[in-house]
Amino acid sequence: MTLQRVTTIAKPPRRPAESHKGTFGRVLIVAGSPGMSGAAALAGLGALRGGAGLVYIATPKSLLPIVGAIEPSYLTLPLSDGDDGQLATSALAEIEAAMEGKNACGIGPGLGASPSVQKVVTTLYRTAKLPMLFDADALNCLSKEREILSSPGGPRILTPHPGEFARLIDSDIKTVQANREKLAIEFAAENKVVLVLKGHATVVTDGERVYTNTTGNSGMATGGTGDVLTGLTTALLAQQMPTFEAAQLAVFLHGRAGDLAAEELSEPGLIASDLARFLGKAWLSL
Ligand code: APR
Ligand code: MG
Repeated sequence: MTLQRVTTIAKPPRRPAESHKGTFGRVLIVAGSPGMSGAAALAGLGALRGGAGLVYIATPKSLLPIVGAIEPSYLTLPLSDGDDGQLATSALAEIEAAMEGKNACGIGPGLGASPSVQKVVTTLYRTAKLPMLFDADALNCLSKEREILSSPGGPRILTPHPGEFARLIDSDIKTVQANREKLAIEFAAENKVVLVLKGHATVVTDGERVYTNTTGNSGMATGGTGDVLTGLTTALLAQQMPTFEAAQLAVFLHGRAGDLAAEELSEPGLIASDLARFLGKAWLSL
């Protein structure tokens, strides 16, 4: 099979004049654990600025008051948690119920990787029909059960940074960075998923097509920027974009938001929530 190099950016979802919240999709974000409530909040901001009609944040119930207070536009869903504050196994059925009527789900930012989280994440990867994005701790859970990677239950996007990708393929960061494109393409083709290998010149591939991103800057090397990408990409999935196109447009817009933010705030002065704030200008620049 010949590899197709994609250089044009996917067309954004249409915004018909005659529309309502339902037109633009319902996003479910599953994220957060004690000490990591900001990850859930940042993913939610990315999803809202990604144009989703409704954004539901499902998070361990002890965190709900904190997460909900960050942005009044969120809808919040409490999930059962264990003594460690991370998801309990019973959260699986709650998430499955919450998926009814949603258009896409993003899981992983700040979720922790306890045995119960592991059970929830790996079961959803294999069985959920909904388009899903797996990031951060959700990827670390998948790394512990590599044999299921090739059995996704529905459309899947995985968004590892080099360290997370090294764990997924049982390699090391040096090898990953020296062979970014090749390893990303192989992984996507083998597992029939879209792989987004983050960092400078993020690679987006479905195994047949590959896009190397041109936007973004080192100001984005700050905690939480990946969580904003999780929300943004899931919002585009919820607006019916196919997995490769959603990931490509999201990566481009996310970097563009970073570039526009850095112009006003400088690279050192950029923080993750600025990316969400500058997504509006990034959309205008398309
Ligand atoms: N140039 C361009 N883009 C960059 C650069 C750079 N020099 N550095 C970082 N970025 C972009 C990446 O491409 C990615 O989109 O910023 C984002 C960083 O995402 P992550 O590496 O996932 O970082 P973060 O959001 O802090 O992750 C939060 O999740 O992945 C786990 O271990 C991580 O616990 C941490 C949490
Ligand atoms: Mg991350």
